[in-house]
Amino acid sequence: MATNGSIRPNPYTPGAGDRPRALVGRSDQLALAESVRSQLESGYSANSLIYVGLRGVGKTVLLKEIAARFARAGWYAPYLELRRGLAVDAALAGVADRFADQLRPGAKLTRSVREMLGRGGGLQLIGSGATIGAGRSRPTYEELAKLLARLASAASKDGLGVALIVDEMQAISLASLGALVQVTQELRDGLPFALIGAGLPHLPSYMAKAATYTERFRYESTDNLHDLDARAAILEPATAEEVDWEEDALTKVVAAGAGYPYFLQLYAFEAWNVAARSGRIQMITLSDVMAAEPVAKRQIEAGVYGVRFEATTEPERKYLVSMAALMDVETDRVRSGDVARALHREISAVSPTRDALIRKGVIHAPEHGLLAFSIPGFWQYVSRRHLAED
Ligand SMILES: Nc1ncnc2c1ncn2[C@@H]1O[C@H](COP(=O)(O)OP(=O)(O)O)[C@@H](O)[C@H]1O
Ligand SMILES: [Mg+2]
Repeated sequence: MATNGSIRPNPYTPGAGDRPRALVGRSDQLALAESVRSQLESGYSANSLIYVGLRGVGKTVLLKEIAARFARAGWYAPYLELRRGLAVDAALAGVADRFADQLRPGAKLTRSVREMLGRGGGLQLIGSGATIGAGRSRPTYEELAKLLARLASAASKDGLGVALIVDEMQAISLASLGALVQVTQELRDGLPFALIGAGLPHLPSYMAKAATYTERFRYESTDNLHDLDARAAILEPATAEEVDWEEDALTKVVAAGAGYPYFLQLYAFEAWNVAARSGRIQMITLSDVMAAEPVAKRQIEAGVYGVRFEATTEPERKYLVSMAALMDVETDRVRSGDVARALHREISAVSPTRDALIRKGVIHAPEHGLLAFSIPGFWQYVSRRHLAED
């Protein structure tokens, strides 16, 4: 029962990787992962799955949900987040211990995992992946392949399998990525093994550079939420706490969030706080949302746009400012050729700058020759900031 003044937990989750109370709009993506699992459990082969999408659309929470579902089904499905300098084997070593407890008691797979952990630090033996990419360090990947093959073959005896759930795949070196793809290809023949990954939109072309077999990966896009899903993302967590949203308030947050899951969570979170402070949290009203808006905006400016902008170099900033100035306000896109022209440079001369911004996840190329900012509202911020600094 909601009583005035009682402290209600805020059910919104505006944070990278924070599991939303309602994971909406992802049933197709989840069904695909489940189909990979059932294919492999039945002894058929399946393509590996890679979810691609902009930062903040919900790839990490999707992968974690898939990892949880696979683990519930008895699979060994560790979630790994890659970073530059941290390769797959080292990342896997970090999570293996945590997983041992989740496995089904008595299964052959469980025994294999325990054995591997028991053997003097288990995966640590494989060595640090930090040196992968230095050319000669392939053996660590061969070890990884052998180990995973052993686990997958033990799993297959129980009708289970092994899935590596790998986040931020674009973050590792070409050599590491190539080795990971190779391991995956070796294992998928005849063993219940899948790689289920995620990365930024340029990952497919990066993968194509890393290896020749990438057609055996299925890329699936993870996009912004449609309005109906966005409404559900906001309503469902409140309903679970017996709190309602006024129709106008909901419409306003859906519009402000622009379908971008992180923004939806943030606006809803701040509106909830305003309502909670006023002591009447049974209904979140338009005036709560209006009062919360500047707070959410300040956080976005400082914590999202500001942080991203500060992480760019001087030439990258010039590039962004030029993009913002040329932006087509109808489509939120700009021609890369026009940006180069405005900078009085050849396209080829500015393409390293453009590519660096793409790798940082600040901009992306929705179509050949076109560029867009990767977070809603970011180009307007760049324009404002440029005007203020001039
Ligand atoms: N399907 C979804 N429904 C509701 N909220 C979501 C959904 N997916 C992600 N979110 C929220 O969006 C934010 C970003 O999610 P995250 O998985 O970190 O994105 P990414 O990994 O793509 O950068 C988090 O605050 C999360 O709670
Ligand atoms: Mg993520």
